[in-house]
Amino acid sequence: MNDFKSMDLFAPLQRALAEQNYQQPTPIQAQTIPAAIEGADILGCAQTGTGKTAAFALPILDYLGHEKPKTTPNRPTVLVLAPTRELAIQIGDSFRTYGKHMKFRQALVYGGVGQGKQVNELRRGVHVLIATPGRLQDLMDQGHVSLENVEIFVLDEADRMLDMGFLPALKKIIAKVPQQKQSLFFSATLPPKIRDLAARLLFNPISITVASKTPTVERIEQSVRYAKRGNKLASLTDILNGNDVDRAIVFTRTKHGANGLAKKLDRAGIAATAIHGNKTQNARQRALEAFRQKKVTVLVATDVAARGIDIDGITHVINFDMPVDPESYVHRIGRTGRAGSDGIAISFCTQDELDELRAIEKLIGTRIRVENPEMKFEVKQEPSKGKAKPRNANRSRRRKSNNSELRNGAQSTYRRRKKVQRSGKPGKTQRTATN
Ligand SMILES: Nc1ncnc2c1ncn2[C@@H]1O[C@H](COP(=O)(O)OP(=O)(O)OP(=O)(O)O)[C@@H](O)[C@H]1O
Ligand SMILES: [Mg+2]
Repeated sequence: MNDFKSMDLFAPLQRALAEQNYQQPTPIQAQTIPAAIEGADILGCAQTGTGKTAAFALPILDYLGHEKPKTTPNRPTVLVLAPTRELAIQIGDSFRTYGKHMKFRQALVYGGVGQGKQVNELRRGVHVLIATPGRLQDLMDQGHVSLENVEIFVLDEADRMLDMGFLPALKKIIAKVPQQKQSLFFSATLPPKIRDLAARLLFNPISITVASKTPTVERIEQSVRYAKRGNKLASLTDILNGNDVDRAIVFTRTKHGANGLAKKLDRAGIAATAIHGNKTQNARQRALEAFRQKKVTVLVATDVAARGIDIDGITHVINFDMPVDPESYVHRIGRTGRAGSDGIAISFCTQDELDELRAIEKLIGTRIRVENPEMKFEVKQEPSKGKAKPRNANRSRRRKSNNSELRNGAQSTYRRRKKVQRSGKPGKTQRTATN
């Protein structure tokens, strides 16, 4: 299926896609949209920047367009969860873009801002609620939203959502969503344990993984630069002053580090701004907008901007600090090289970060080219196979115990669940898991 027309999508959606100049569906869209329209539960995995948002937004809007379900105050029909406020906002923009020629109502719910406007929108009744888990749970606790009418449930960045930080809120939310619903889970990375867990939350899921040799986008030219802590800044300004840098995201490990680095770059004459979790939501939005609108060339960010953020024309991603989670590397560098464009990803690696580098290489299944192999660190033994790496050891242990907690709690409920056929699409058989 290499044509949106042959998908039989609601005509106003076709129009919007043509206006967006989407010539043909990406592989993840081609594989998931027809199945999702039929009502299947989907676990979709495809590289960064390959159009996963439309892969869930289009079948949802198609349903809303064809079936025209009525809104009920405080009871959304569709729930989309995302890990960050910025991503929730962006997903809302995508729904608006794809759905611009049809009537539907949506609300955004995320923390860091007053809840009054969000509460009012919910009260008026919405089809689509796009939310981050914390604020949603808050509003549920206060009785401003009930999930009992949810027919379609989406987890964007599913592995992150099912990871330790979000589990407590997510468990409470999942418990309130009706058992009979359609679930659509997406991410560019689905570690086996999380894939397992996700699959248990889905009814007979169609697991769609777009085949690729590595989870990272091939068009991103990746390299590592060995560095000493003290010379990272000089190395970074060198790169950023280069002619080929149009727009760059620089990732740091800490919020404090992001702030300090943005200031230092500014002082060095490179227009930079920082985005991280300690800023107010307005300041976060302002930073992202300044970057989106090219008022600054460089965005210095923590992992809060690692996932899902889609900004055109980012030429460079620089890991000033190595990410702690190998998955995070895939998402960080995926802010460039989107929708078929090229990109450059350079990661600074100090001796202390060699373990992280090895973990990343293991995940992506390839060695990353080192720009300066002549730089010598003190010889350090590579961790032996199967042995937990000291730096990440606690993290993975915590993750494991949390996951098994959800698995046990959810098993009995979800395994027995029966699937309902979405109205208006009767008699269509559901495909079973393909891989
Ligand atoms: N069929 C299409 N044709 C052309 N461009 C597309 C198509 N589908 C999506 N795009 C564009 O591709 C870009 C990336 O899409 P999107 O943000 O949905 O990727 P993603 O797979 O969710 O990435 P990530 O894993 O980073 O979240 C967007 O700018 C979007 O407008
Ligand atoms: Mg995405």
